[in-house]
Amino acid sequence: LESQPLAIVLDGPAGSGKSTVAKEVADFLGAQYLDTGAMYRAATVRLLELGVELSDQPLVAQQVAEMVFSPSTNPLSEQILVDGTDVSGQIRLPEISEVVSKVATNLSVRATLVEKQRAIIDQAVASGFPVVAEGRDLTTVVAPHAQVRAIITASEEVRLARRGKQIPGQDAAKLADQVLRRDRDDATVSNFTSPADGVVVVDTTDLTLEESVESVLALVANWVNTP
Ligand code: DC
Repeated sequence: LESQPLAIVLDGPAGSGKSTVAKEVADFLGAQYLDTGAMYRAATVRLLELGVELSDQPLVAQQVAEMVFSPSTNPLSEQILVDGTDVSGQIRLPEISEVVSKVATNLSVRATLVEKQRAIIDQAVASGFPVVAEGRDLTTVVAPHAQVRAIITASEEVRLARRGKQIPGQDAAKLADQVLRRDRDDATVSNFTSPADGVVVVDTTDLTLEESVESVLALVANWVNTP
């Protein structure tokens, strides 16, 4: 398997468990891993550091086009550098989650990041290892020709509960507002709720993490047996 050119791409809403599942699948397969959301988040951290007004769409797009992103492709590392600076510790701060959609709904920013993401995925595949990438538009825009494509989803109630566990101490109603608003905004530019042709839906509402991982691994096994 490790010598096969294999890309596994997963999309889904916030709190679907997609990141955790993607990392575990990558770790299990000895694959490389790309969290595309981390790139939108890293861009946001850098823009704020540069003092760029996020609603200034042309300036935001121009600045992001000039940024150099170096995400670790190790599923056990959450490291991401932008312009040589490690922003891993900042990308998940609530104040970044709050505004990242402003950057992610900028269509010129998306065009730039899609190109950069394709380059990272292509390089990973060319290096001979499988790659697992996740986000909102991998199955449709970034890698529509990936061998395994799935949407990881879960009921709203379960997604909010999972997010609440990830961010202990945050006010539940506020968190719900933020997550649902962000999904609504993100859904205006990517379709990660209904599957494109050939995309499998994995509903993890009633699945444990282990079962969710097994469901994705079953899709991979299925592809290996009947590519
Ligand atoms: O998955 P996440 O919460 O880390 O994503 C951060 C933001 O980036 C979120 O608002 C959705 C957006 N995003 C996107 O629009 N396209 C992607 N491929 C990945 C993330």
